[in-house]
Amino acid sequence: MQKAWGVVSLILTFCVLLYLVLWNNLSENIHSKTIIISSLILSPLGNTNLFKTQKHLNVERKVNITPIPVLYKKNFTKLPVWDFEDVYLRDSNARKPTCPKSLHNTEDPEFKESVLPDIQLWLYKGQLNMSEWNRLAHFNNPFGFMEYNYNEIKRAVDLIPKPRSSILLPVPKGSKDGCIRCAVVGAGGILNNSKMGREIDSHDYVFRVNGAVTKGYEEDVGNRTSVYVHTAFSLYATILTLKKYGFHNIPQDEGIKYVMIPEGLRDFEWLQGLLQGKAANGSFKGVRPLNFFNGHFNESRFNVLHPDFLRYIRNRFMPSKQMQGNYWAMYRPTNGAFALFLAIHTCDIVNAYGFITEDHHKYSNYYYEKFKKTSVIFYINHDYGLEIKTWKKLHDSGIIRLFQRH
Ligand SMILES: *[C@@H]1O[C@H](CO)[C@@H](O)[C@H](O)[C@H]1NC(C)=O
Ligand SMILES: *[C@@H]1O[C@H](CO)[C@@H](O)[C@H](O)[C@H]1NC(C)=O
Ligand SMILES: *[C@@H]1O[C@H](CO)[C@@H](O)[C@H](O)[C@H]1NC(C)=O
Ligand SMILES: *[C@@H]1O[C@H](CO)[C@@H](O)[C@H](O)[C@H]1NC(C)=O
Ligand SMILES: *[C@@H]1O[C@H](CO)[C@@H](O)[C@H](O)[C@H]1NC(C)=O
Ligand SMILES: *[C@@H]1O[C@H](CO)[C@@H](O)[C@H](O)[C@H]1NC(C)=O
Repeated sequence: MQKAWGVVSLILTFCVLLYLVLWNNLSENIHSKTIIISSLILSPLGNTNLFKTQKHLNVERKVNITPIPVLYKKNFTKLPVWDFEDVYLRDSNARKPTCPKSLHNTEDPEFKESVLPDIQLWLYKGQLNMSEWNRLAHFNNPFGFMEYNYNEIKRAVDLIPKPRSSILLPVPKGSKDGCIRCAVVGAGGILNNSKMGREIDSHDYVFRVNGAVTKGYEEDVGNRTSVYVHTAFSLYATILTLKKYGFHNIPQDEGIKYVMIPEGLRDFEWLQGLLQGKAANGSFKGVRPLNFFNGHFNESRFNVLHPDFLRYIRNRFMPSKQMQGNYWAMYRPTNGAFALFLAIHTCDIVNAYGFITEDHHKYSNYYYEKFKKTSVIFYINHDYGLEIKTWKKLHDSGIIRLFQRH
């Protein structure tokens, strides 16, 4: 008797599970179909042919267009892939490398197929009009503006100064071979006692990210910073939490470029405060972003990365399995990853230090934790396994050189 009940309940459980699975799939299909269909009808950019013919775009321009209905992340059970997912703004003034040894001359077929040397790097005023909005509102942050409000984002973007040049870093004066040599320094514990400081500083340019502590660690990580990559949050939080490691200011070298990754709404709120010299509203209410630059802020040395660049990096170089699951919208490459790919797109020779490697468990989380070995904290919004593989692959194919220890 008991056995029969066991079998019955097993069958019942199975039926419930099957029902749930079918229902989920069905509703997922219905939802995504409704959304695609509604955006096809309402959005001028839902049209497949739109990116193919300039003529079509010109026709659209004359139509008085309105924002697409808001799309919500939670209505998708995995990353939605639009027919214009892999189409990006391009920059006709992009740098053309003159360096014979440039990584852009690689024969690596996978890299050659993925890379767009003229990808639009920067977001700035005038770039966000309604048709651009309707394209970018299909992608979750930081890859686009899904769930956001047009006027709010537009207000911030229209404050961002247009860079005087598309080119982030010039070929150094007096260069014999026309090459731009860059070091990109992550905060990995692998740098503890590495004595790489002199080598890092000997590059034409040094990129640093987030908690870029150098004071007291010069022997291992160097002391120069040419490009500092950050988000509003990373800037705010590192100053707050890394004081104990002597990080009182973000790097302020003469001529330094500050590059911001706009990771979400709070970055646009921050930008409004920063670029108007006022206290911010929203997530950083009452905070005056300009104070974090200690008088070293200069609009002509401040750049904001374009969501198309960020999406291009995710789609073509770092697509994670996480994008296929329920938490798809949480995934994004780390700030270090974006900084490294920025260097790959703005330099000819790229050496990476302090980036995660297979043997990361041997080191502390960060190089400035010299005396206490803390293990790497794996945040759910990143895919560290994928980053390990990506850096190794770029190193093995000779595109970058990755600092490793044995
Ligand atoms: C999508 O999410 C929004 C906000 O939670 C909700 O109001 C709407 O009904 C959802 N749409 C669909 C098609 O499920
Ligand atoms: C909208 O902005 C995009 C990107 O900057 C540009 O290519 C396009 O021509 C603009 N469209 C209109 C109608 O101004
Ligand atoms: C960095 O260190 C070198 C010596 O190693 C020194 O000459 C230079 O002035 C330092 N630069 C900065 C910005 O502190
Ligand atoms: C924040 O809101 C106040 C009140 O609405 C406004 O006066 C101020 O300009 C806003 N700050 C920014 C940076 O937009
Ligand atoms: C800002 O930087 C530019 C380029 O480095 C320079 O020409 C300009 O004088 C700087 N402005 C201020 C106010 O320091
Ligand atoms: C950093 O390196 C020194 C010298 O090798 C070592 O004694 C120390 O334990 C290391 N710190 C950590 C946290 O691994």
